[in-house]
Amino acid sequence: MTRFPTRWLLLLAVAACPAAAGAGEREAILGPFLAQHWRLPVPAQGAPPEAFTPLEAALDPASCGSCHPQQYADWQTTLHAGAYSPGFAGQLIEGPLAERTERDACLTCHSPLAEQQRDAGLRAQGIVCAACHVRSHRRFGPPRRPDAAPAPSPAPHAGFEARAEFQDARFCAECHQFFDADAPGGKPIQNTFVEWQQSPQAARGETCQSCHMPDRAHRWRGIHDPETVRDAVDVTLTPVAAGLEGPRLEAALVVNNRGVGHHFPSYVTPRVRVAVWQEDSSGRELSGTREQAWIARVLDFSDWSEISDTRIPPGESVKLDYAQERAAGAAVLVGRVTVDPDYHYRGVYQELVQTYSDPAALSRMREALRRADASRYVLRELRRPLP
Ligand code: HEC
Ligand code: HEC
Ligand code: HEC
Ligand code: HEC
Ligand code: HEC
Repeated sequence: MTRFPTRWLLLLAVAACPAAAGAGEREAILGPFLAQHWRLPVPAQGAPPEAFTPLEAALDPASCGSCHPQQYADWQTTLHAGAYSPGFAGQLIEGPLAERTERDACLTCHSPLAEQQRDAGLRAQGIVCAACHVRSHRRFGPPRRPDAAPAPSPAPHAGFEARAEFQDARFCAECHQFFDADAPGGKPIQNTFVEWQQSPQAARGETCQSCHMPDRAHRWRGIHDPETVRDAVDVTLTPVAAGLEGPRLEAALVVNNRGVGHHFPSYVTPRVRVAVWQEDSSGRELSGTREQAWIARVLDFSDWSEISDTRIPPGESVKLDYAQERAAGAAVLVGRVTVDPDYHYRGVYQELVQTYSDPAALSRMREALRRADASRYVLRELRRPLP
């Protein structure tokens, strides 16, 4: 297994730093409102309007949740709420990213409010409601639902400004797309928004929100959620040519990106493994019968180049051809697709666990490693009994 040098993290910081971004391109893509809305870190809110109660002025998600309980309950279950994760926070304690400027570059996406830089309790809550909805104590949100109850008068937090941009895919681009020139293989390291722009789903008018926030739900499920992936990615194992009858077994394991509105997977960090092998009647894999491949974008972080990219664009498929002699005792041909959402990070964490000495950094990194191991799952296993 490739070990990733910690230098990758530094490079990520440089790539992610707004100063390194193509500012003109960012502005052109985001448009004036979002280019201003997504200045990160979000500038300090300043003093609240005098008429605000302490609850209306509060920026912590639990306070929003006292009036918006559904959004709060959903948000708490998400990776946005968990963005100040052990694997993230641990790296800000010890090592090159503990430096002030590096840390600040990381915090912009993972803990974005100016207030979070000063308040450790608020910082630990990751991408809070206010990061997306509050600027200078003003609320911004999507247009009111047609069937919404009339606003109470006076409205809490002086109502809100309705903006169509909340329903636009560009809303998500600041943190899920790099706008810089550093593009191994011609593609930025984070390219989800551009992949989406070129997708059939975008042509049909489906946005990030239609898939990740259906009916405005604040759930943002993605590759870490097996059901979300199963609903969008089809797997088939079909006999070809001689098929499964003769002494030679020929089959194809096909993975089809039917319903993901960008590459599957989008990031350079997950890996998806496809494998086919023969088993005996007691379920034991027969040695020497396995063929496998990765679906992933693999970078060489030492010189910042792309080694390979086998990810599946929207609507397309990849195929693993299987052709082998039938082994003695073979009873079943098995095809399995396994998703490892945190593959890259596990390599980083394994290395950092070896180098850290600060107990607070070390305990976070051990927890991060435990979570990365626990996030792996089998997407599909298909079994074809052999005649
Ligand atoms: C005291 C209760 C209360 C608190 C606290 C509160 N809100 Fe609201 N909020 C409301 C009500 C009531 C509305 C509906 C106002 C309207 O329809 O004009 C609303 C509207 C909104 C909207 C617009 C919804 C839409 O249809 O687009 C957003 C976004 C919002 N609030 C975000 C927040 C956030 C973020 C916080 C915490 C920082 C927060 N609110 C705290 C009561 C509250
Ligand atoms: C442009 C926004 C952005 C910036 C800046 C950024 N990240 Fe992330 N980070 C993301 C996104 C989006 C993900 C989830 C996708 C993925 O797993 O790659 C993520 C995931 C992670 C994860 C794995 C998930 C977790 O939280 O355990 C770690 C660790 C991490 N980032 C560390 C960092 C560090 C360290 C920095 C500073 C060098 C940094 N990030 C800067 C957007 C950003
Ligand atoms: C990552 C950005 C993000 C975060 C974090 C976030 N929201 Fe939202 N919120 C949105 C977007 C985008 C929409 C509009 C979705 C749509 O219309 O499809 C929205 C819609 C809403 C609405 C209108 C819902 C409706 O059914 O009309 C409310 C109220 C709201 N958010 C409150 C909150 C609260 C409270 C939190 C924290 C617990 C929160 N949001 C966290 C992005 C965010
Ligand atoms: C047509 C539905 C659809 C659309 C549109 C869509 N996504 Fe996804 N997205 C998915 C599904 C399904 C997954 C899980 C499979 C995967 O990881 O590719 C996913 C995964 C993700 C992930 C996990 C990381 C990864 O490596 O895949 C992120 C982050 C993400 N989407 C963000 C976005 C953003 C930002 C947009 C808009 C620019 C968007 N998505 C548009 C369906 C969609
Ligand atoms: C302020 C920056 C920011 C904004 C804005 C933002 N995200 Fe994220 N998002 C992140 C980070 C950082 C993570 C990874 C958190 C982690 O794992 O530590 C993430 C994770 C996700 C995931 C989880 C993917 C998985 O690994 O399973 C999805 C899906 C997602 N975002 C979709 C969206 C959509 C859709 C929008 C727009 C409505 C959006 N995000 C806006 C920063 C952001």
